[in-house]
Formats: sequence, C-alpha cells, structure tokens
Amino acid sequence: MAQVGYLRRLFTQPHRVIQEINDRHGPVVLLGAGPARLAILGDPAVISDLFTEPTESFRWNHRFNTLAQWVGEDSLLTSDGADHRRRRRAVQAGFSRRRISGWIPMIRRETDASIDRLVESLDGTRATVDLYPVGRSLVLEIVLQVLGGPRLAQRAPEVDAQLRMLQDFIELPALRQLPLPIPGGPRARVQEARRTLDRIVDDEIARIRINPDGDERNVLESLVTAGELTDAEIRDQVITLIGAGYDPSSASLAWILLRAAATPGLWDRLAEEADAAFGPVEDGTPPGTSGSLDLADRTVRESLRLHPPGAFGARETVVDVIAGGYRIPRHTLVAWSTHLAGRDPQYWSDPLRFDPDRHLNPTPEQAALARMAWIPYGGGSRNCLGFALAQIELSLILARFAQRLRLEPVGSEVPQPTRRSRPQGGAPLRGTPRGETPVDR
Ligand code: HEM
Repeated sequence: MAQVGYLRRLFTQPHRVIQEINDRHGPVVLLGAGPARLAILGDPAVISDLFTEPTESFRWNHRFNTLAQWVGEDSLLTSDGADHRRRRRAVQAGFSRRRISGWIPMIRRETDASIDRLVESLDGTRATVDLYPVGRSLVLEIVLQVLGGPRLAQRAPEVDAQLRMLQDFIELPALRQLPLPIPGGPRARVQEARRTLDRIVDDEIARIRINPDGDERNVLESLVTAGELTDAEIRDQVITLIGAGYDPSSASLAWILLRAAATPGLWDRLAEEADAAFGPVEDGTPPGTSGSLDLADRTVRESLRLHPPGAFGARETVVDVIAGGYRIPRHTLVAWSTHLAGRDPQYWSDPLRFDPDRHLNPTPEQAALARMAWIPYGGGSRNCLGFALAQIELSLILARFAQRLRLEPVGSEVPQPTRRSRPQGGAPLRGTPRGETPVDR
C-alpha cells in the first residue's frame, strides 16, 4: 500500500518523495512488481557502477518516456542502439572544445545585452526582480545562436512561446501526459507547438541548403553539410538541443543566482574575480576565456550539486543488471538520483551547506568521492552532450552578473523545487547596478 502511494507521489513531488524513500528504506530500493517495477538508486557507488554497464543493457525509449511526443522519435533522448550512436556522433562533432571557445564572445555579448535591459528597467532604483524569466530568455538566446546563428536567434520570441507550452505539458502529472487522443487536450496543444517548431527549423534547413552562411560555429549548418543525418533526424536533434539547452540551464541559472546572492561574502568575491578576469567594465570587454573564473565555476558546481535539474534520470533495463552488487531484474525502470547523490552525507561533509570552497584543493580521497557523487550531467556513454557548453555558459553569466550588479536576497528561506526542479516562486532578488547608490522602489 505504501508502495502505491510512493509510486503515485514520485511523479508529482519527486524531490520530496525520493528523499523520503531514501531516509526510510536506504539508498537502493526496488518498488512494485511485474511490468511496473521501479529501482531507485541514490548510492553514488551503485550509480557509478550503473554508468559503466554496457549501454545495450538499457533502453531510453521505454514506455514511461513521454518526451517522444515533443522531442520526436528520432531524438537522441528517445533513441537506442546503433541509431543512437550514429546520431550522437553527428551531434557531438558540433560541440567540440574549439567551437565552444568560439561561442564565448557571443555568450558575453548576449549576457551584457540582458544586463543592460535589466539596468535600464531598474532606472537607478533598488527593486525586486524575478531573475528566472530574465535568465530563461538569455539562455534561449544563447542556445539559438549556438545552433543556428543570429537568424535562428531572431525567432527567439516565437520559439519561447512554443517551449513554454511544452514546459507546461512536462509539468503536468505523468498520467495526464499519456498519449490520449483528446481534441484540444494537453497532447493536442503539444502537437501544435511541436509543428510550429518544426516549421521554424525546416525553414532554416531549407535556407542553409540554398544559401549557407559558411559559419563553422553554427551547429545546424554543420549537421546539414555533414550529410550524415536525414532532415527529419536533424530536425529532432535541433528541437532536442533547444529544449535541453533551455530548460535545465534556465532552472540551474535561477538557483545559482539565488544561492550566490544569499551566501555571505560570496557575491563580492565573485565580483572581484570577474574584475580581474574581464578588466574594468568601462574598458569594454576583450574576448576572454573562463579559465580564470575559478570561483564562478565552483559556485556553479556547488549549485548543481544541491539543485540539479531533475530529481532523477531514468532508463529501463533490457537484461538483468548487477550494479554495486545489487541485482536489478530486466524490464525495471531505473531511477538514478543525482539529487540524492549530491546530498549524501557519506560523500559530502555538512551536505546542505552551500559552500563553493568545498571544491577547492580537495585531497585525492575527497576528489575521488566527489567524482562519484557529483553527477548532475549524468555519466557513461549517455552523459550530457552539452556539459562543457553549460558549465562555461553558466560560469560566464554568473561572473558578468556579479561584476555589473549587486544582487541581494529578499528572504532567508531556500525555496522548494518545482516538479521540474525550478525554484518555486522563481528567483526574486533585489538588484542595483554595482557602484551606484540606489533609491529603494
Ligand atoms: C545545467 C545544464 C544541464 C544539465 C544539468 C544537463 C543534464 C543532463 C542529464 C542528466 C542528461 C541525461 C543523462 C542520462 O540520461 O544518462 C542530459 C542529456 C543530454 N543533454 Fe544535458 N544538461 C544540461 C544542459 C545541456 C545543454 C546546454 C545541452 C545542449 C545544448 C544539452 C544537451 C543534452 C543532450 C543532447 C542529451 C542527451 C544525450 C544522449 O542521450 O546521448 N544539455 N543532460
């Protein structure tokens, strides 16, 4: 009976329930029976073992993966086996280190434009602003520039409207996401949003075929000219990348700003580091790397440890799997929890304390434990393909916000996460341009 309650609530209040299951029954739990079997893994050593199992032992295109309705059947997130390997190879070529370095000036430019708009709206006053939508527009602009350059980025408002509809759908209780053909229902709205996104991406593919930009940083253009994927496959990957680059990054950015602004002394240290890395704001912003933004990088890491997007990742076993000495029968949905791993007291001292310096000069033993328990981007052959981009992007945005703005918390409570891991209530912060004496609004 308790099991049915857990299963029902796990998909409506995932963070709370997964923590409750862990506290009551331990970090490795098998729930349900027959075709509705679920293994919850919170022990970092067991998860680490899971990541080293052959990819063929699992399937991502399982019956509970409702994402296919909007990322498409050919998406990396919903494909398996040889198709997945081929698609991943093609997309990964677009995210090389060299390309990511080439995007840094654009990320800085977009971040500055976003801060300029914010400063203008503050108009010399100290006002409370919800930085969640501000950050969401910024990361959308960045991912569209990465994928399709300025032309695709021009369509950001249209794309944003569709993504919000899809985001609302993903936030629905799991049962309401099941593919029931009800006219005007949530599924019909998702299909319409998806068709609009298809048209936007198709326009761009057609334009590249006639008149390529010749910009080697443009991921969509590189996919079209490489000729390894069909147009339908390219479309599904681009929509996947827009969603993957939008939803987790914007939720993470909201947490990063909230936690960095609320940790005593941290915001000033971030601002000093950014001054040293970028030079004074008035001198303009010469292109730079995030190499010297060590504190910003650690702050991002610490925030992702405590507030990873998603309470757990999911895959289904297609054969019996042994992970960390536990036997997981085939046809079990495995929920590995980055949320639990990041808060495990065996791996992190005083785990709920927000402390970016815990990642500074770790002993070899601490570093080995952290490698196992810091898994916001997953691990193994299906790890996050945008990991390096996300880490650099979030560190740069944080550093530039700290250099140009003073942000102060409006309350002392750490908010609860929504089902999709955004902070409940957004990211309200009191903002002032740095160095100005504000008037309270
Ligand atoms: C803070 C930001 C992000 C976090 C925490 C994050 C996390 C994750 C996680 C946990 C997975 C699943 C791993 C698994 O199922 O084992 C994943 C997959 C993926 N992510 Fe990210 N992600 C982020 C940003 C991005 C960005 C910016 C992009 C690209 C623009 C991206 C592209 C992808 C793709 C394509 C996959 C599927 C990989 C595959 O199945 O082969 N992600 N991400």
